[in-house]
Amino acid sequence: MKKLGVLVSGSGTNLQSIIDSIKNGYINNAEIATVISNNKDAYGIVRAKKAGIDTAIIEHGNFPTREEFEKKLIETLEKYNVDYVILAGFMRVLTKFFISRFKNRILNIHPALLPSFPGVDAQKQAFDYGVKFSGCTVHFVDEGTDTGPIIVQAVVPVINNDTEETLKKRILAQEHKIYSYAIKLLTEDKLTIVGNKVKIKDENIVN
Ligand code: GRF
Repeated sequence: MKKLGVLVSGSGTNLQSIIDSIKNGYINNAEIATVISNNKDAYGIVRAKKAGIDTAIIEHGNFPTREEFEKKLIETLEKYNVDYVILAGFMRVLTKFFISRFKNRILNIHPALLPSFPGVDAQKQAFDYGVKFSGCTVHFVDEGTDTGPIIVQAVVPVINNDTEETLKKRILAQEHKIYSYAIKLLTEDKLTIVGNKVKIKDENIVN
């Protein structure tokens, strides 16, 4: 059984979908060992507590440097012996210091079809640009901003009456599907990184 450490900053709907996927047996070789938030008011912490998962609040503002903050994150994750770190709406850039500690063991979800629209407000960036298709991406985290090897993507068409909000909502629904799928693959040892590509054993199309 693989151990996950999930990092959140906000509402935690992706966290909830992972909790649900473990509960219903879709993800069957992993458990969430701890949920950590850098924001004490994150609703993700409430969701974790409701599910009986250990939680920690580690506020970056309480540390003099990024490295000190990351040291505390690492210490907490290592205390729980986590195999993988799952970023689920964690709104803090992680430095090389943290990333090298969990090399190829950190996943992120990004609400656009990378490599288009990296960074913050990805749904707005895509909507404002006028693309006809956007979507979401689960990828391994490397030292760049949203640049790591891509595991799964889902495409979401932009329709005539869309607003930024309606598009965001439909993308989020797909995020919930593909994040669980990627974690299932990861924790069943079905992912291999070759250069910047991820090979998937026993691939399924998610829709
Ligand atoms: C998601 O859109 C995710 O892609 C982005 O932040 C949002 C988090 O939502 N990185 P939630 O906290 O999982 O509800």
